[in-house]
Amino acid sequence: MSDPYSNLAAEDRALQMRIADAMQARCLEPAQIAIRREYLNGLDLPEGALAVEFGSGTGHVTHDLITVAGAARANGIEPSPVMVDRAKESFADEPALSFEIGDAKNTGLNGESVDLVLMHTLLCHVPGPEDVVREAFRVLKPGGVLAICDGDYDTATAQTADFDPLDQLVRFMINQNVTNLWIMRQIAGMLSEAGFALGRRRGHGYVAEGEATYFLTVIDRGADRMAETGLLFPETADALTAEARRRVEAKRFFGYMSYVSLIARKL
Ligand SMILES: C[S@@+](CC[C@H](N)C(=O)[O-])C[C@H]1O[C@@H](n2cnc3c(N)ncnc32)[C@H](O)[C@@H]1O
Repeated sequence: MSDPYSNLAAEDRALQMRIADAMQARCLEPAQIAIRREYLNGLDLPEGALAVEFGSGTGHVTHDLITVAGAARANGIEPSPVMVDRAKESFADEPALSFEIGDAKNTGLNGESVDLVLMHTLLCHVPGPEDVVREAFRVLKPGGVLAICDGDYDTATAQTADFDPLDQLVRFMINQNVTNLWIMRQIAGMLSEAGFALGRRRGHGYVAEGEATYFLTVIDRGADRMAETGLLFPETADALTAEARRRVEAKRFFGYMSYVSLIARKL
């Protein structure tokens, strides 16, 4: 199966809704909010700055562009109408925020019109990420900032001991849902070639907390996919998702992934 996030608008509505729920759950987890605060703080934007998130999903990260990064206005560009509708509904009371259907490779924005472009867990899903980087360079003003954060997907795990079967579900989910597994290990070279000056690069550890709401969506999607492909019988997949929930209840669940952020500037 190809990564459904790479062309979400083409997927059936039920899958888009399921992905929207998972994305929203992830956005709202305190540990995820903390990661975004770490790298979106102190970007030193000019007064009245316009920020654009490429791949804005449910819009919660776009909202951070105002509340954390300090932009005056923020716009989210996203190909899935389900996501755009959800973002508009959630942030209807925020006049400084807008969302529209579009493609990060060809946004239709004017050249040199934007102060900050954000890509938060976008590039891992886009075939040809160089085209998105080029579009960011085109729309940014001289001195404009590009902020990128994505998973370092090889570090995703639910493993608590040798041969832990839950870990296979996480690995399978990543295998089926990520196009560019190594994007954050390759992105510095890509930005440099596009003409960006590289700034701060940081690692951010994410440990699933409390009810592990988002990580359970990863486990469930891995299990469902294993059943759909015939690797597991459905009852085995159900037993593994039940195991994950038992672990959460018993405080024995562990879910982890590293994220990496990189700030660059168009000189
Ligand atoms: C993992 S989600 C992240 C959404 C949001 N940034 C967040 O962190 O909650 C990736 C998003 O990128 C969008 N996407 C994929 N390809 C895109 C493209 N070519 N242009 C713009 N967005 C794209 C997907 O539809 C999806 O909503």
